[in-house]
Amino acid sequence: METTFLMVKPDGVHRGLIGKVVSRIEERGLRIVAMKMMKIDRETAEEHYAEHEGKDFYEPLLEYITSGPVVAMAVRGNSAISLIRDIVGETDPQDASPGTIRGDFGIDIGRNIVHAADSEESAERELNIFFKSQDYQEYSRVEENWIYE
Ligand code: RTP
Ligand code: MG
Repeated sequence: METTFLMVKPDGVHRGLIGKVVSRIEERGLRIVAMKMMKIDRETAEEHYAEHEGKDFYEPLLEYITSGPVVAMAVRGNSAISLIRDIVGETDPQDASPGTIRGDFGIDIGRNIVHAADSEESAERELNIFFKSQDYQEYSRVEENWIYE
């Protein structure tokens, strides 16, 4: 099983979309194993988005992600990293398919509702920024025998 990092960004929180994001994860059969509402400080934002430093959208991106509360989650399941990226949709909501979170709820690339780790390495790196080992809950969902063969 993989564990990935997913975050409802400040626009998603302000627009009341936390529940819809969480529902899509749960309904797919993935398991939320850690979850936290928080305001990201500038230093954490810089660390989280280090790969984008120097790009023209970097400053607006840091302002956006620190502009209000976010909901950070660790999500576990078979192929969780790619499944969550598929559930989230293309970076630019204009290109995101209907049925994806960004394709259903977003319009602008700078207000795209959620963040999702894009690889095993980034999942591990990002989970370590937001969660400590004691933040994770070990449990299984009752229907997992019916989700996995
Ligand atoms: P994320 O990291 O937030 O899950 O999004 P992503 O992998 O789909 O996209 P990424 O390339 O990592 O970009 C990070 C975030 O920066 C903003 N962005 N703006 N104006 C632009 O051209 C532009 N490009 C990216 C988006 O908020 C994107 O989610
Ligand atoms: Mg990214």
